[in-house]
Amino acid sequence: MGPLYFCDQAPGLIATRFNGSILSRVEDLNHDQTWRRIQLKELVTRPANLPKNPHFSSGPCAKRPGWSLASLSDALVGRSHRSKPGKAKLQEVIDLSREILGIPEDYRIGIVPASDTGAIEMAMWSMLGARGVDVLAWESFGKEWVTDITKQLKLADVNVYEAPYGELPNLAGVDSNRDIVFTWNGTTSGVRVPNAEWISASREGLTFCDATSAAFAMDLPWQKLDVTTWSWQKVLGGEGAHGMIVLSPRAAERLTSYNPGRSLPKIFRLSKGTELIEGIFSGETINTPSMLAVEDALDGLRWAKSIGGLTHLVKRSEDNLKSVSDWQQKSSWAAFLAAEPATRSCTSICLTINDADFATWDAKKQAAFLKSLTGLIEKEGAGFDIASYRDAPQGLRIWGGATVETADIQLLLEWLDYAFITTKAALSAS
Ligand SMILES: Cc1ncc(COP(=O)(O)O)c(C=O)c1O
Repeated sequence: MGPLYFCDQAPGLIATRFNGSILSRVEDLNHDQTWRRIQLKELVTRPANLPKNPHFSSGPCAKRPGWSLASLSDALVGRSHRSKPGKAKLQEVIDLSREILGIPEDYRIGIVPASDTGAIEMAMWSMLGARGVDVLAWESFGKEWVTDITKQLKLADVNVYEAPYGELPNLAGVDSNRDIVFTWNGTTSGVRVPNAEWISASREGLTFCDATSAAFAMDLPWQKLDVTTWSWQKVLGGEGAHGMIVLSPRAAERLTSYNPGRSLPKIFRLSKGTELIEGIFSGETINTPSMLAVEDALDGLRWAKSIGGLTHLVKRSEDNLKSVSDWQQKSSWAAFLAAEPATRSCTSICLTINDADFATWDAKKQAAFLKSLTGLIEKEGAGFDIASYRDAPQGLRIWGGATVETADIQLLLEWLDYAFITTKAALSAS
């Protein structure tokens, strides 16, 4: 398709030139032959370049720049993960994670089954119930943990703090003498907590933080976090497999002093009687990990270290958010789902459509429009997996984590403008 043109005399009418339809449509609208005076002004041109890496999924996320399958050639495939070299690789994942994230020496780090879900659920099942729980939720994953706590664990003393998509609940209302369960970054709404000032340094409760779309892209204040979890498939672009769990000394103490009196499958057990299963925190995983996925996790960590560690990872992600913010300020159709700038995620960047016509359409038409728009971008090879999450408000979600190049985000934004106008043109011509 060639350039698109906008008709000054018929605001809102957009069509391609030279196919005859724009002139006849305007004539039809006005019935007075005004088409002769119509000015056609170029509105958008097809971007000349594609992102080098068009992967903008919020998980599994883009591989690091330069990654190829050859990066896994040292994987310990066909060998036991309990062999000396196997354990060494798992220990290196733990050591590099500690080094890059600045995790204190007295915090334990474990590699656990079932990705981030496994990590946060084994923590909740093993430790919750010792005191009242305040659980916060502002998008679908937080809501999952509310369901776990209220409907599966059926804990008696629970306060639920919820907020709609785009907002945060009242953090100041939370009681640090109770256990607190929250996500650092709500992946499906693009809303993150701006800091941890609302958590008391002298708390008696434990904090349980699902940080899966924050770790390696945002600063995490370890002194305020007792249980922290993430998965390999997020900011460093690893494979979906095992998850990571970090325990503060107080969390470890809870595990050895509190018996929740509930049955726990082996896959969730972090302690035996009054003893921690210490092997989990030195590379002895509960069950068998994929050594290919382990190698890939190592590759991501080594890359992270090679580019300068956490400061640089955070900067790469914040630069991605800044590119989207700069573009959005000039956009006539895109808005952030997170209204408050301080809460906008630099990883899962969620946008809504702020367009007068779009606002008048019913949900079905809006969904069809967005499907065409994202379909066009995908067909062009300019961006994959950028539709909003299935339970979130209709819109777009662009992953801006540390493995994504800012230049690629900027090219995607050009394609978004092009696709928005092209898709609207196709709609008004139909
Ligand atoms: C905030 C949050 N929690 C949990 C999960 C589940 O992660 P996993 O599929 O790695 O278990 C996700 C996945 O996107 C997430 O974004």
